[in-house]
Formats: sequence, structure tokens, C-alpha cells
Amino acid sequence: MKDSPKVKKRVAELHKLINIHSHNYHTLDSPAIQDQEYDALFNELLDLEANYPKFKYPYSPSQRVGSKPLEGFKKVEHLAPMLSLDNAFNSDDMNDFNKRILDRLTGKKIISYSCEPKLDGIAVNLLYVKGRLDKATTRGDGKIGEDITHNIKTINSIPLSLIENTSNFPNIIEIRGEVFIEKKDFDTNNKKAIKLGEKTFANPRNAAAGSLRQLDPAIAASRPLKFFAHGIGFIDKGNFELPDSQSDTLKLYKSWGLPINPLSEVMSNIEGCEDYFKKISNKRENLPYEIDGVVFKVNGLKDQITLGQVSRAPRWAIARKFPAEIGTTYVKKISFQVGRVGSITPVAEFDPVNIGGVVVSHASIHNFDEIERLDVREGDTVRVKRAGDVIPQIISVDLSQRKKSSSEVIPPNACPSCNGNLIKPEGEAILRCMQGLSCPAQRCESLIHFVSRNALNIDGLGERIIDLLVERGLVTNFADLFRLKKEDLLNLEGFREKSATNLINSIDSSKETTLARFIYSLGIREVGEATALNLALNFNNIANFLGATEDDLLEINDIGPVASKFILEFLSFKENVDLIEDLLQLGVNPQEIRIENNNPFSSKSVVITGSFTSIARSQLKEELIRVGARVASSVSAKTDFLVVGENPGSKLKKANELEIDILEEEEALKLLQE
Ligand code: IVH
Repeated sequence: MKDSPKVKKRVAELHKLINIHSHNYHTLDSPAIQDQEYDALFNELLDLEANYPKFKYPYSPSQRVGSKPLEGFKKVEHLAPMLSLDNAFNSDDMNDFNKRILDRLTGKKIISYSCEPKLDGIAVNLLYVKGRLDKATTRGDGKIGEDITHNIKTINSIPLSLIENTSNFPNIIEIRGEVFIEKKDFDTNNKKAIKLGEKTFANPRNAAAGSLRQLDPAIAASRPLKFFAHGIGFIDKGNFELPDSQSDTLKLYKSWGLPINPLSEVMSNIEGCEDYFKKISNKRENLPYEIDGVVFKVNGLKDQITLGQVSRAPRWAIARKFPAEIGTTYVKKISFQVGRVGSITPVAEFDPVNIGGVVVSHASIHNFDEIERLDVREGDTVRVKRAGDVIPQIISVDLSQRKKSSSEVIPPNACPSCNGNLIKPEGEAILRCMQGLSCPAQRCESLIHFVSRNALNIDGLGERIIDLLVERGLVTNFADLFRLKKEDLLNLEGFREKSATNLINSIDSSKETTLARFIYSLGIREVGEATALNLALNFNNIANFLGATEDDLLEINDIGPVASKFILEFLSFKENVDLIEDLLQLGVNPQEIRIENNNPFSSKSVVITGSFTSIARSQLKEELIRVGARVASSVSAKTDFLVVGENPGSKLKKANELEIDILEEEEALKLLQE
């Protein structure tokens, strides 16, 4: 075909045919032609594209796996933020939710809901421009995500061009949904990985996340990723008329060739939602994919707009989570872990057991009193509870299965790490190793704390590397971190030129820090972030802090005799003072926090609730204090502002009752700049 317009036309025909057959095969599970016929169409397209590169479009069905690995992920701002959902745990929570909605939608007595299984996958945003997939991004922090278009294009059920069943498409539409891996594919993938000696994934969600966070699209292409569309973000309608309900939007998506969950249903009232929840709970185990609850959305889109959103979640939707799950397993061993300040914590190691999609292989037990209360021993069969992201917990021992030969757990009489003496301080339920930083376990834990996010925040220095550095004798204290050279790292397994340079750079940039972070990073007992901040505000610089007396300390708001005793004890050890001086010598530069007094928050009492997306909670607090606010921990009539983040707690309710000014993250950040 020499004639270019003819080629162009045939290429367009082939796109259409291939897209339809691919949709029949991958999304509808009902192929309409033989595989050979499909291959012939596909090969014809490949031939034409090879001969006429100008007709090789990025949205061509041939371009699903075509792109080369990327150098890094590009950050992309969502056109509309990707919100999260409030949770409900029982039918009372659901009735409260329904009541809140009825209160706001005056004139309505009954609300219908779109009910949808809550897939436990990875949220993604698909941006279609005039019906063509333009960009795909991860959720990121809700505002800015990462460009994963190259990986999303490998998912065969996601159309690169929407099916033209309507006369036109919106100019721009962000389609929100979930990428996931089915349970059976997850198992197959893990078995294959074991055979090849590769990394396995703990659960299907991690497998999906791990596949999307790859620079090389060949990896995502090799994993059987699936997708369900469930929502809408930004839309520039153009001439297009959007349906007026969530359920019709899902139908529209389906007609465009996007996969949607076939179990979604509309219920005409809140009682129907309860029935739906029961129905899905019963089906859960037999579903091919993992779900962690059910999402209920007010079905009318106009109503959704009237209801609006609070901080990071819409008022018109809620996720009802399944209750905590319980599994039974066998305790292989009970060992003892040494914490940062020497506390000895018993840890039960289990035969790995899958509890609600997560493989659990150990649980820590608070202390020895708790061991006694549970009466748990090595060799016991135990029931273990896992609730959402919460750390697994032993709830009881099945005494009927206890072996005659079993014996009670005997607390260790020496530190399992350094063999040093252990003591049980009066009034504490905890055994402690008193060797401080000369105990290797405490040294590692202290370093982990020192580099952690709210302390010096050294990116890329995880537990594994710290263990290695300590084991090889390269690092024995905090100051040694700043003496590390690139060559030292290159001698450690797992480091290459680039990763070594990156780590050295992030160690270097951590030197510029605040006094509060610096004091917190030292890991003094009873000195958490809030106390460190108070100390920084009162002493202004390190020299003053080093000279603190008991009287100085007791005068500070929030510091009582216990914290004061630990601080003075810490400062009385010459090694600690030398260490601090070493750090300063090496260039660590803790900045004094200067208080402003001309900001809208100055001299105001502020309470913070929830978690934040564009700033760490600790940093928000620091910033507030810097401009002269008093940050209190509970709401009272004296509170001037409540700053609310994602998933706010009961403080929000109280502030509403007391009619206190409520600021969302963005507003608060704006005021801070004033
Ligand atoms: S709607 C504004 N519908 O759950 C509403 N979310 O905690 C935003 N999810 O990150 C979400 N299935 O990725 C919605 N049918 C569904 C869902 C669903 C799973 C995820 C979603 C979001 C998280 C919310």
C-alpha cells in the first residue's frame, strides 16, 4: 500500500478490530474469533507500523509492552485529588453515616447507595483525553502521584482507546480504579519465584504494588494484573453529558470497555446496605481476588456534590471494613528482643499462617506479665488476631493441645545481645539490659531511631544496612555515620556506585536539621517528639541544653520528674556529651527554632487531629510552634483552631460541638505562610 490515506484508514480499522476482540477476550471472557485470526490482525498492524512509522501511535494496541525501561518515576499532579474513605466497623457506624447524610440532604427521607466490594489492590488514576489513555498514575499522596503509564499499558483489559459507543467522549476524564492480582495468579507467581530463587510477595496487594512500581514495563507485562474502574476524578465534559448516578457511571464505563466489578449493586436504603454487606461477607472467601470491606456511596451524583467532603474523604461514601481476622498456628519458639533503651520484649515465632491475606510469622508479647496472663509456651497452639494494619497479637492458647513436655517460659537472666546484666526496675513490668550503647542490639536500635523520619531523616538507611554497618564495625555510634565514605559502602554487599553516592548525599543533607529533631534523635528515655520540641524551645541551642539543670527542666511545660531524671542522667555521661560535640564537629547543624508573633496562629491554642498528606504531622506541629501557637493535645473551650487531616478522630466531633474553627490541611498551611 503506497497510498498513505489508505494505510492510515486501515491502521484505524485494525485498532478498532483489535481493541474489540481484545476486550471480548480479556474483559468479557468471550472471544469472538479464533486466536489465529486475532494474530493475523495484529501482525498486519505490526507490519504497517514497521513500514509507516508515522502511523505508529502511542495508543496503538501494539504499544502495550513497547516502551523501554524508564530512568525514574515522573511525578504528576492529579487534576482532582484522590481522596480516601472514612471507615465503618459495624451497623451502628453505618446508621450514623446514613443519619449524617439525611441531616444534610434536607427534604430526603431515604437514600439509595451504590454498594461495591472494596478491592484490596492499588488505587490508580487513568487520564483519558478525548477517549484515549493519556497518562496513568499512582495515588501518591493524594495530590501528586507517580507516572506509571508504561506499566498500565501492559494491562490488557485497560483500553488504550475507549470504545466509541457514544457520539463523543468528555474532553478530559480521570477514571479512578483499582489494579489487583487474583489470588490464584499470586500463588502461581510466588511458586515460580521460589523456583527461580527470586523474591516472593507477602500478599496479592504487595504483588500488585511491586509490579506497578517498576521502571521496566516488561515486569508488569509478565504479571497477570487486572483492573476494575470504580470512580471519577476530574472531568472536562465538553459536549458530553455525564449520567446522574454512580451506578450509571459504572454502566457507562462498562460500555466504554472498562472492566467494572460485576458484584456492584444499588440498594434503595441503608437496610439494603446491611444485607449487601452480609452477602459479600459470605462470598468473600470464594472470590477470585481479595477484598477488605465494602464501599457504600450515595448513588445520586448531585447529592454527592451537595454533601461535599471533609479533609481528605468525601461525606458521601464510607468503607465498611470486615472484622479482625483470627488464625490458629503453632508457636515454634519464644525469643527475646532488645529495644532501643534496653527493654527486653518476648517475641513468639510461629509456623507462618495466612490470616486474611497476610502471612503472619511472629508477634511480640508486651512483657513477662503478659506471658503469664496468656500462659503461652513454646510448642503451644495459639489463636492470633490481625486487624487491618495493626500488629498481630496472640489472643489465647488452646490448652487442649498443650504437649505434656512443655514448660513455662523462663525470663532470660542475661541480655540476649550482649550477655550483660538485666534488671527489673521497681514499678515496671519490663526487664532491661543496662549496658546502653555498648550493647550491640541497643546500638542498632538507637541508630535506627537516629536516622528515622521524624529524627534526622536519613533517607535510604534502613535496618538491614544499619545491621551491616554495625556488624562490620564501620559504625559504633551516631557520629560514625558522618565519617562514612563512599568506598566503605562500596565494600558492602548490595551497594553500587549510584546507591552509595545517594546514601552519602542523604547523610550529608541530614546535617541541616532543627534543634528539636536533633534532641529527639538522641533517643533519651521519655524524650519523645513533643518533649524534644519543648526542650528546643526553652534552651534555644545545644550549649544551653547541655548545661540544663533540674530546676530548668522542671520549669518546662510537660516535663515532669521522670523525664527530667532521664535527661540529666543522659547529660551526666561524658560519652554522650563527647558524642554530641563530635556530631557538631562533623558538621551537624541543629537550627534554633525562632518564634514569630505576627502570624494568624501566634498565641492561639491549636489542636491537630488525623494524618496529613503534604506535611508530616510532627513537622506541622513544629511549624505551628515556630509561629507562636500553643499546640494542645485535646480540644476544649479554650481551643482556637482544630487542624484536621485524614481520618480525624473524636476531636473533630468535639470541636464541632464547641463550634471551634476547623481548618483543613491546605488552609492551615496557607495561614502558616502568612
Ligand atoms: S471510592 C472518594 N470505591 O479504597 C472515594 N474506593 O480507602 C474514593 N477502593 O484508595 C474511593 N475499592 O483505592 C472506592 N469500589 C471502590 C473501591 C475503593 C477499593 C480503595 C481505593 C481507595 C481506598 C479508600
